[in-house]
Amino acid sequence: LQASNPFKGRDVISTKDFHREELDHLLQTTARLKENPSEFEGRLEGKLLASLFFEPSTRTRTTFKLAARRLGMIVDEITAEEATSIAKGENLRDTLKMYEGYGVDVMVIRHPSAGAARYASKVVRCPVINAGDGPHEHPTQAFLDLFTIKEEFGGIDGLCIGMMGDLRYSRTISSLSYALSNYDVELRFIAPPLLQIDQRTDGMELYLRMRGMSYEKLFDVKKVIGELDVLYVTRIQRERFPDELEYKRVRGSYRVDAQLLEGAKEELAVLHPLPRVDEITHEVDASAHAKYYEQAANGLYLRMALLLEILG
Ligand code: NCD
Repeated sequence: LQASNPFKGRDVISTKDFHREELDHLLQTTARLKENPSEFEGRLEGKLLASLFFEPSTRTRTTFKLAARRLGMIVDEITAEEATSIAKGENLRDTLKMYEGYGVDVMVIRHPSAGAARYASKVVRCPVINAGDGPHEHPTQAFLDLFTIKEEFGGIDGLCIGMMGDLRYSRTISSLSYALSNYDVELRFIAPPLLQIDQRTDGMELYLRMRGMSYEKLFDVKKVIGELDVLYVTRIQRERFPDELEYKRVRGSYRVDAQLLEGAKEELAVLHPLPRVDEITHEVDASAHAKYYEQAANGLYLRMALLLEILG
């Protein structure tokens, strides 16, 4: 690892907290790790990771666990709320304090409330990594998204990036947009009006304007498909809708299929944080544009790199 390490001992709560040099540093470490993961095996021997998931997760939880184990760490997990004292009404602060008392070196937390990870970082002294706090942010997903884009194109500056789907409730959209505000990119936010970025309550659009981002909002992806280098798609975050009727109004309102991709640049990369529901048809999986499985695999290397940087 490089001598000066901007991540050492830090919390990872929001991508707004990291500037370009720091992001590039992490992406470089990730690339080295991906090239030769065995070189780093056991580097964090005996360190403790608490994995606290108060919301469903497949990839994020699994890759943190696999990453930690490959580095030699010991992992303790809370997942199904039914199996822990959370179900008996234990509050979050007590759970965090208890894990701190066990001497864990880092905590990874996913929680349905926006702000839960920031809160946790104030409660405990060890570094806290946000693995998704409600509709708010998901910084480690954004880091691996950046890594995938950089790997695909050799760099990030100059790209035209479309984000399509539930831009209102997706936490991957906010975290990735904030991270991309460090680069010279064009953004296209593609969604029906109900799911557009101006429907968010977290001030994301204001932030992007303050950062001088160049972006456009539109509904019909066909209008821009030919300009895009990246098309980043998200599922409708059904569980975040306060009103089921609103969900029904937008269900099935956008889709990526083989016909749409006929109008795309040859090098277009279609990304998706997964899980996919019906917004990318399965025929797309076989096309050279589909990069979401590679993207998911990169999560392992990114999370290994991040743990090494924070604790190494
Ligand atoms: C995302 C999430 O949890 O926000 N999933 C993930 O971590 N890969 C996206 C989603 O749930 O739609």
